[in-house]
Amino acid sequence: MKVVIIGSGYVGLVSGTCFAEFGAQVTCIDTDKQKIDLLNNGKIPIYEPGLEELVRSNLDNGKLNFTNEYGEIVGESDLVFIAVGTPSRRGDGHADLSYVFQAAKDIASHLKGYTVVVNKSTVPVGTARNVKRIIEAENPNANFDVASNPEFLREGAAISDFMRPDRVVIGGESEQALGVLKELYRPLNLIETPIILTDLESAELIKYASNAFLATKISFINEMSMLCEAVGADVHAVSKGMGLDGRIGKKFLHVSPGYGGSCFPKDTKALVRIAQESGVTSRIVESVVEVNEAQKARMFKKISLALDDELSGKVISVLGLTFKPDTDDMRDAPSISIIPKLIEQGAKIRAHDPHGMEEAKKVLSENIDFYENLYDIFKGSDAVLILTEWNEYRGLDLDEIKKMMNTNVFIDLRNIYEPVLMKEKGYNYFCIGRPTL
Ligand code: UGA
Repeated sequence: MKVVIIGSGYVGLVSGTCFAEFGAQVTCIDTDKQKIDLLNNGKIPIYEPGLEELVRSNLDNGKLNFTNEYGEIVGESDLVFIAVGTPSRRGDGHADLSYVFQAAKDIASHLKGYTVVVNKSTVPVGTARNVKRIIEAENPNANFDVASNPEFLREGAAISDFMRPDRVVIGGESEQALGVLKELYRPLNLIETPIILTDLESAELIKYASNAFLATKISFINEMSMLCEAVGADVHAVSKGMGLDGRIGKKFLHVSPGYGGSCFPKDTKALVRIAQESGVTSRIVESVVEVNEAQKARMFKKISLALDDELSGKVISVLGLTFKPDTDDMRDAPSISIIPKLIEQGAKIRAHDPHGMEEAKKVLSENIDFYENLYDIFKGSDAVLILTEWNEYRGLDLDEIKKMMNTNVFIDLRNIYEPVLMKEKGYNYFCIGRPTL
């Protein structure tokens, strides 16, 4: 089977590589020449565990190719996936579809023979039909169908999410198109992956509804953490007690300084917009967005309070900058909203991140001292602040760090450590939603 993937970002690169691993002949097209050169040399522009090895082996066995040119390959393919970015449009929160529509135009003139054009980018309901209209207008003779095949992979676990998904969702109108996609995913039959065959609109909405629901769980537990602090309850007990109810489920009930990343913030806002434009209000998702913003603001107050509301001149050692571990992605990371406020109040920021410092330097203020060596960051520090739960931070030498610091303030916004242990170690420990000891 011949597959073309337009867009070599997270979703495009992982999908293309994994389809090649399934046995398809895959060509990834991207307009960014530098990125394509890098990929052709077996190097990947993002940090994603396991991906580079898989890209290299499929480059070596000729199953995977990268190019800037649409050329003949689109016409020769059975499937063309659109996997370009759909960032939040400035000002209104709507998904910016300009890259998707441009890709549709670019594909149109190259189509030859029957081709299935598949949207893998997260796109508002109705986009697949718009893609169809664009292609028909550009090339009235094209023999094609459109389909929607949203992607549910998580950064940091992308390969295993793609290779062992909970489900595959395929939306389409023609039996032929659904048949071609089912054939592409046939290797997953071995592990009995459920394949949901549905219409275009439902497939598009499943993606937004799934992300919005997961974001709802996070905002819910973050709201509960505030209540826990007010009444003296422990959010870990609450989360466990709720999560063991099979109807609720324990995943995505971990408190945090707010969800971030390239998906939840963008997709929740886009869902609110889609609802508004369809004449309905989405009150729950609107609240989820508000609670997330409030949680980030609440975290700043927590840090300030931990330092007696005197941030000026205080040296804060920040551990973790990316929006979550195992990625170098800084998009909508809590660090981006929290650190500038600390600097504004006069705090001196030192920062460490195992894989995100290069990306962080592009988006965070120049007034930050970045540390390559983790333990150097604690010397003479007034507070430790954990923002991302990288494994490297789970087993810190707490005795050694305390000796190196000026004070004993330890603020853990991922609740990695146990309050009892931190008290024993002599720290003034602050976390989220757990009683202070
Ligand atoms: C998310 C979804 O989990 C994927 O299924 C989806 O395919 C992807 O978006 C997308 O739309 O492309 P991702 O953004 O990579 O994946 O990361 P998650 O692991 O879902 O985490 C998102 C955010 O929620 C992070 O900031 C994380 O720290 C936060 N989170 C997660 C919590 O605060 N608490 C939790 O219990 C879980």
